[in-house]
Amino acid sequence: MRFFSLTIVALSCVFSTIQGLPFKPVVKSNERRSFLPTCSLCNLAVRGIFQSFDIGLTNEDIVDNIALTCISLNLYDEEICRGVATDAIPTVRYIHNNSLVDPGNICGILMQEANCAFSDRDKLEWSIAPSSIPKPEIVQLDSPLSDASTIKVLHLADPHWDPEYMEGSNANCGKPLCCRASSGLVTTTEDEAGYWGDYRKCDMPWRTLENAVKHMSKHHSDVAYIIWTGDLVPHDNWSTSREENMLIHESLLNLVKKYFPDTPIYPTLGNHDAHPTNTFAPPEITDQELGAEWLYQDAARLWTKFGLPDEVSDTVRHGGYYTTLVRPGLRMVSLNTNYCYTFNWWTLSSAKDPASILSWLTKTLEDAEAAHEKVHIIAHIPPGNEDCWAIYSREFERIINRFESTVVAQFYGHTHNEEFKLFYDNANATRPINVAFIAGSMTSFTDLSPSYRVYTIDGERPDSSWRVLDYSTWMMNLTSANLRGPTHLPEWFELYQAKKEYALTDLSPKTVDGFFTRMLDDDALFQLYFKNYHKAADKIISKGCDEKCRKKILCRLITSNIAERERCNQIDRKLSKEKDSLDTIAL
Ligand SMILES: *[C@@H]1O[C@H](CO)[C@@H](O)[C@H](O)[C@H]1NC(C)=O
Ligand SMILES: *[C@@H]1O[C@H](CO)[C@@H](O)[C@H](O)[C@H]1NC(C)=O
Ligand SMILES: *[C@@H]1O[C@H](CO)[C@@H](O)[C@H](O)[C@H]1NC(C)=O
Ligand SMILES: *[C@@H]1O[C@H](CO)[C@@H](O)[C@H](O)[C@H]1NC(C)=O
Ligand SMILES: [Zn+2]
Ligand SMILES: [Zn+2]
Repeated sequence: MRFFSLTIVALSCVFSTIQGLPFKPVVKSNERRSFLPTCSLCNLAVRGIFQSFDIGLTNEDIVDNIALTCISLNLYDEEICRGVATDAIPTVRYIHNNSLVDPGNICGILMQEANCAFSDRDKLEWSIAPSSIPKPEIVQLDSPLSDASTIKVLHLADPHWDPEYMEGSNANCGKPLCCRASSGLVTTTEDEAGYWGDYRKCDMPWRTLENAVKHMSKHHSDVAYIIWTGDLVPHDNWSTSREENMLIHESLLNLVKKYFPDTPIYPTLGNHDAHPTNTFAPPEITDQELGAEWLYQDAARLWTKFGLPDEVSDTVRHGGYYTTLVRPGLRMVSLNTNYCYTFNWWTLSSAKDPASILSWLTKTLEDAEAAHEKVHIIAHIPPGNEDCWAIYSREFERIINRFESTVVAQFYGHTHNEEFKLFYDNANATRPINVAFIAGSMTSFTDLSPSYRVYTIDGERPDSSWRVLDYSTWMMNLTSANLRGPTHLPEWFELYQAKKEYALTDLSPKTVDGFFTRMLDDDALFQLYFKNYHKAADKIISKGCDEKCRKKILCRLITSNIAERERCNQIDRKLSKEKDSLDTIAL
């Protein structure tokens, strides 16, 4: 009995941590203790869940047990615990029942950043066949490129529209998402949600998104096209539904189309666009309840309705990805990187190259190379991040290595922060080969200013490089917008232009790598990056970034494969050496 209840505690714990809800046994009603998930707790919970299946508990029994634990420990409220468990259990049971997963490997994937042990990591191994066509010689580009002929491209990331957003509701509600009618009683005026949005755990009201898009159409009416890297749905991941997700998807596409009627839009799917959140089954799962077919069918319908050519439909229906020619010489490749997300249950299964996306990518890039096209890759989750499974990231990195002359830029969202990510030569770790541009979110979730980006791209000539020459990020200040109230429209302004802000000659891999190296020595420069990373949100900026935070942000910039941390260890050593020598001086 004791073991059983312990198991259930651990089970709830793992559910809450897996779902990003901190596991916090409550001391007083609004004072929570935080609880760090450990590898052993994770393993205990996995054992507990699988035992519950093996002893014949029904899904309802398991959900009841989790809800009971939530109530007795005063964790998140029953609705959230039930919602998250109800959504997750059928998928987890299917994976277990069909022996798609090795229980001892689960925590190693789920908590890859904590280096939890694997029972048999070899079982998870896979790699895709490398291109059989030899890599062409690398042509050095003239740098800096002339700005003689350029196009502008708008990048929208992570709008997370909350249809239930309500000004004046509780913005400090203790749930993962607040600022809704259902967020509970407001006890002080300070807790009231702002009219235009809120820096706390809240997503965006419609009016602010509409204001943003309207502003863009006024100030950037000349953009050639729009890239849109997903996550349209709010963060209430315990109460989503297929119907609402589809409605949000269509409404937001309608909004952008209203203000940019003739501008092509290139979308991708974000982890929040699935229901249950994060759950992207591979195409061989044809079960209507568990599969992702409904989502891909809907995406194919909407994306072609809003302007993509019909040729994209087959791959969108198969796995949520596509390619299409933007201009003669420029190919767009839109990937569904949610298959690498460690919080996608199907990533824990033995799936190898889910939905064949990476094999398809290799083939697509071979064709592009033969046709002398350049490629832009867009997707939601940046490979190489701590929440993208290491084997997937490694295989992706190999593809980028092979096609470094064809893939001239990558664009992502998901982190909600303003970031670069560098890829390096696998044969020469000091040679940077590619830059991923990660754009900040339109949502303020959390402690971030709403923002969007405009890139300047070398284009429109037959021999254009299609490289990113520069970008600027625009934001609005929610504090001042809410102070001015409903009668004044928010003021959008340019937060920074990358080249000017960081004194860069261009945005080539080599120059961005040099920028990274400069930040190791130049704290003022790093502080500037840090400010823009959080889009000048006052609360975070005034807290500052200590050494641990600095290492983390710098490490992300150069990590395209989480299993290879040598470069990060070098940062650690460099920054600690600095500290040692400062200590010595102080002595
Ligand atoms: C669920 O929501 C919480 C808070 O909004 C977030 O931190 C977490 O990442 C979400 N979980 C998933 C699995 O998306
Ligand atoms: C579990 O698997 C067996 C056979 O592998 C199958 O007959 C049964 O329906 C499955 N149950 C569930 C709930 O998937
Ligand atoms: C590795 O790359 C650096 C930077 O591009 C270059 O200077 C160096 O010669 C390369 N080393 C080898 C062994 O190719
Ligand atoms: C945002 O507005 C508040 C209130 O007007 C102001 O104190 C703050 O400095 C502003 N922040 C930025 C980054 O402009
Ligand atoms: Zn995301
Ligand atoms: Zn997001």
